[in-house]
Amino acid sequence: MAPRSSPIIAIDGPAASGKGTIAKRLAAHFGFAHLDTGLLYRAVGLIVLNTFGDPADASTAEKAAHDVGVIPKAMADPSILREDRISVAASKVAAHPGVRAALLKFQRDFCTHPPGGEAGAVLDGRDIGTVIAPTAIAKIYVTASDEARAQRRFKELQGRGENVTYASVLADMKERDARDASRAAAPAKPARDAVILDTTTMTADQAFAEAVRIVEQKLNV
Ligand code: DC
Repeated sequence: MAPRSSPIIAIDGPAASGKGTIAKRLAAHFGFAHLDTGLLYRAVGLIVLNTFGDPADASTAEKAAHDVGVIPKAMADPSILREDRISVAASKVAAHPGVRAALLKFQRDFCTHPPGGEAGAVLDGRDIGTVIAPTAIAKIYVTASDEARAQRRFKELQGRGENVTYASVLADMKERDARDASRAAAPAKPARDAVILDTTTMTADQAFAEAVRIVEQKLNV
């Protein structure tokens, strides 16, 4: 008999939709390993910027994606990766098919062998339900209005002392969303079998409770 593969929960959605927090809490709740795949693209963006390269240039970005330091940088999760300039660079490098291909194996391996011997994996990103783990047992597309997402992101950046305005955060976010959704390689979109979770009027706890309900239904627990 073939070995049973471990369950995968795919959480996708646009910037500041709350998907990262939901994914992290789901992983803790179900005892699964968690991977924030945005950190991989952010690490590639950081490597490009550190070498004064252009994230929009495919060969520069691909070279960075093959850098042996990408995964450790992403896993270390230093707060530099969350900076606004890195968000923009990440979205640009993520549009190159060669960059996505270079990061594919790590993500698939994480799904098949969740680190720490955990019973399953929760991945969050833009293409988890569509490309990385199309057979995931539960797929949730977390979203919220542009204004609600920009407000959350604005507060987060302000809290970290970044010098930003709400208007600039909203404009940058819309630009990034449009680039992520319109690219030819693995465009950000809900999988056909994803459940849409709109968190616009929800607190973080309400959104998490709803996500748990959706996953439990799929896991039949
Ligand atoms: O989730 P995030 O905001 O940290 O992601 C940063 C950028 O990386 C985002 O603008 C698009 C890209 N990304 C992607 O293309 N595919 C993923 N699975 C995750 C992120």
